Amino acid sequence: MAIREIRVVGDRVLTKKCRPVEKMTPRISELIDDMFDTMYEANGVGLAAPQVGILKRIVVMDVDGTPHLLINPEILETSGSQTGAEGCLSLPGIHETVKRGDKIRVKYMDENFVEHEEEVEGYLARVMQHEFDHLEGTMFVDRVSPLRKNMIAGKLKSIIKGNFRAAYRTKIRR
Ligand code: NI
Repeated sequence: MAIREIRVVGDRVLTKKCRPVEKMTPRISELIDDMFDTMYEANGVGLAAPQVGILKRIVVMDVDGTPHLLINPEILETSGSQTGAEGCLSLPGIHETVKRGDKIRVKYMDENFVEHEEEVEGYLARVMQHEFDHLEGTMFVDRVSPLRKNMIAGKLKSIIKGNFRAAYRTKIRR
């Protein structure tokens, strides 16, 4: 078990597109274990690999006491919409309202590289969409209204400068 440092806004790795996982290796397996440990330690409900500096399409989540691992996830279909507050371990202290699809059909692989397809909705669907965005180099602040983005610009600048508090280990590699 190892807790990894969480990258925060200002780190270039958070703006990049991630590559698919081609096969399970001991290294990937270790990364997944560490991602769960890191997410639980930081009291997060989800964590994407780029948030620990790795550009791979891997997401871990736990919104309801059930660990979820999604490798190479894809959204096949979206319907409806929901609006709610979001936060992110890579954006300490920032919470904003974001509009997302309400119901999504997703495809992903598990740790045995077995493919799954399922339909999820509500909060679980929100967290998935948030985490999948990280795999494309997108963060939730990129999805708030221009007005709100303007209002939080100062806060974002402070974080980028390293002026923030977080209850977990962080890192910014510019
Ligand atoms: Ni996030």
